[in-house]
Amino acid sequence: MSHHSHETTLAALGVTEPGQVALLFAQLLAQANADLEAAHSADTFEKFRVDWFGRKSGVLTLVGDNWLKPASQELKPAVGQELNKFKAQLEARMEARRAAIESGAPEASGAKDRVDLSLPGVRRPVGSRHLIRQVFEEIEDIFVSIGFSVVEGPEIETPYYNFEALNIPEYHPVRDDMDTFYVEAAVSSGPGTPAGSLLLRTHTSPVQIRTMERQEPPVRVIVPGKVYRRDNPDATHSFMFHQIEGLAVDTDITFCDFTGTIQYFVKQYFGPSVETRFRPSYFPFTEPSVEFDVSCIFCGGTGVAANGATCGKCKGSCWIELFGAGMVDPAVYGFVNYDAKKLSGFAFGMGMDRLAMLKYGIDDIQAFFQNDVRFLRQFP
Ligand code: PHE
Repeated sequence: MSHHSHETTLAALGVTEPGQVALLFAQLLAQANADLEAAHSADTFEKFRVDWFGRKSGVLTLVGDNWLKPASQELKPAVGQELNKFKAQLEARMEARRAAIESGAPEASGAKDRVDLSLPGVRRPVGSRHLIRQVFEEIEDIFVSIGFSVVEGPEIETPYYNFEALNIPEYHPVRDDMDTFYVEAAVSSGPGTPAGSLLLRTHTSPVQIRTMERQEPPVRVIVPGKVYRRDNPDATHSFMFHQIEGLAVDTDITFCDFTGTIQYFVKQYFGPSVETRFRPSYFPFTEPSVEFDVSCIFCGGTGVAANGATCGKCKGSCWIELFGAGMVDPAVYGFVNYDAKKLSGFAFGMGMDRLAMLKYGIDDIQAFFQNDVRFLRQFP
């Protein structure tokens, strides 16, 4: 309350006409409204009530005493009328304000507590998993459902785990296919081998050795992870790519368990209509070794494309090469103190990027690593 006109008489204020009286009451109402707006709680509301309606020195009482009672004969009716109108308006507004405060309505609380619902919220865009990660999980689910567990191993390896313990001695020619990046840190490479440099693993097979060192048979694991080779990038090669290794070792695992497991996986992954076949191959750590093929998923294994031409994907051969595998070579058991006479098992090593490319129709492996959102967003 800062307006003090009600503390003196109309004569002292120089008011002589009814029009001036109306103006005075209008100013008083504006003042009352401002005070009412500022009342946000029961306490401030009560102060307002006392200031304006207080019997002894409330504004209404003073207006009666100072304006109405001493008013001239000409002004009195106007002052009486205006005062009644003013009182009724003020009471109505005060009642509305009291109801708002009691119901806790937002307009009764201070601006500082108000939530502005028209403000845009904070956007937190949610990304999605990379296709490679999605395919890893897809494949992990298939193997976990038939009793395999998922293990991982280091990407920086010793030559012992990457080569020697997998029955690949230093002079072995297959090392030429697995040239990689060496890390300049001379370390003792492993039991019984001379110190050598660390390297970026060329396959996930070293985790076969690490797993068998750590646990007794039976073993049923798959190993997803990154691997590295000194390959020049093109549509099917990358110096870093992904594999999923598999290893099953027990006292009674046969070649039939091996092919049955692979067939199950391939049908789960590509669909029930695909066929599998295997061809003899060679890996130092499996014997016999095979290469698994799947019937061409692009031409349905017919060798002929939809337009009648020779299928460009399998080049008319009806089959697509999938991955290498085999029965664990008994020599490998020797490196991990497993009893080669009692145990048998199988292993496989699948190129993840290749499996993803085949299933999702991607013809350039580089698309996985370029992080182009136009590519990534196709696999939400
Ligand atoms: N490690 C082999 C490779 O990368 C694949 C493989 C794994 C073959 C396990 C047989 C058994 O080429």
